[in-house]
Amino acid sequence: MTTNKQPVKRKKPIPIEFIICNPDESLSEQASFYTSLEVGEDAKLKYQEQSITINTSMLVEIRRLGFGNFGYVMLTEVQDCPGLQMAVKHLNLYQSTHNPSDFTADTDLRTLRTVGSGENPHVTTFYTALVRKRDNELLICMEACETSMEKFSTKMHQINEIQHLDLLLKRMINHMVDALSFLKTKNILHRDVKPSNILINQNPVIFKLCDFGICGRLVNSVTATMMKGTGIYLAPERIDKERSPEGYGIQSDMWALGLSTYEIATNEHPFRGLDAIPILAKAETWVPQLPSSLSSELQDLVTWLMKVNHTERPQRYQDILESSAMQQLPQETTVEEVEMVKKIIEQIPYVPE
Ligand SMILES: Nc1ncnc2c1ncn2[C@@H]1O[C@H](COP(=O)(O)OP(=O)(O)OP(=O)(O)O)[C@@H](O)[C@H]1O
Ligand SMILES: [Mg+2]
Repeated sequence: MTTNKQPVKRKKPIPIEFIICNPDESLSEQASFYTSLEVGEDAKLKYQEQSITINTSMLVEIRRLGFGNFGYVMLTEVQDCPGLQMAVKHLNLYQSTHNPSDFTADTDLRTLRTVGSGENPHVTTFYTALVRKRDNELLICMEACETSMEKFSTKMHQINEIQHLDLLLKRMINHMVDALSFLKTKNILHRDVKPSNILINQNPVIFKLCDFGICGRLVNSVTATMMKGTGIYLAPERIDKERSPEGYGIQSDMWALGLSTYEIATNEHPFRGLDAIPILAKAETWVPQLPSSLSSELQDLVTWLMKVNHTERPQRYQDILESSAMQQLPQETTVEEVEMVKKIIEQIPYVPE
């Protein structure tokens, strides 16, 4: 273990070629290859206004934050850096001798750095990335939040704490639109908006978008489309490319935001268990129907976000902000929201090991 007394030796980053581990062996041939020239066993990050070098051996795991399709996330501290807590996402890599494809991890990590630089309060901050060669893992180090909207929503429905749900969902949409329009200013689409990628903190109540860039493009492009259950947030024009020959745009992220809102509100997903073709068929006639306890303005907004024809969805994020639902939202977080979030978060159990 490295301590303060034995200064970390800054090694030259190791050129390392790797592919994302594919859980289904039969698909491994189709996995893409990545070359990283920038990521190594140690990395620099800013801590208390100073640039420090951390090494994979300095990471101290506190507890598990969750499991995903491609790996797991741990709440982690850094040895000798009291108070520095981060969420570390572990992605499995295979070292490879194959030729790299035209994608590189560097490009994706650059995206993470660009959008996760801490400039926008509704985007999780990206600290750094490391490669742990011993375990063939890529470690994405980011800001830790209290929980995800996936876990929040499960507990909320379990305890039926839904009195101020209308307000909270409007707040969530408002924060997510701020995050997504910030990404747009950097010419980036999120591509993986879903409740598990919307994180929430209680003090102050704030929603943050995570897993842009590397997780939406690098990982999901490799396997997600081939894995069951990961395509259920895809907008119709992403499933059927003929619907949008010019490629998909911000309206696809809007669809996923509308669908996430619907899922959190109802505790149901209209496309769960379905493959691409049945999703398209159902989406053609399906209209989101929120519980009648929620406002008609929120209902109208979700219906607009989920128009099957992407040209009928809002054309700009500003259009969403100008909708009646967003206009009704008090500028400052209300006491009702704070109490609701606190009551729910305190009852969410830790993820078992
Ligand atoms: N920065 C974070 N702070 C707190 N919890 C997090 C953070 N990032 C992820 N989590 C938790 O870890 C869980 C797993 O995240 P991960 O991104 O690996 O998978 P996922 O989003 O659930 O699904 P997928 O692998 O399909 O993207 C999330 O559902 C969330 O609860
Ligand atoms: Mg995620």
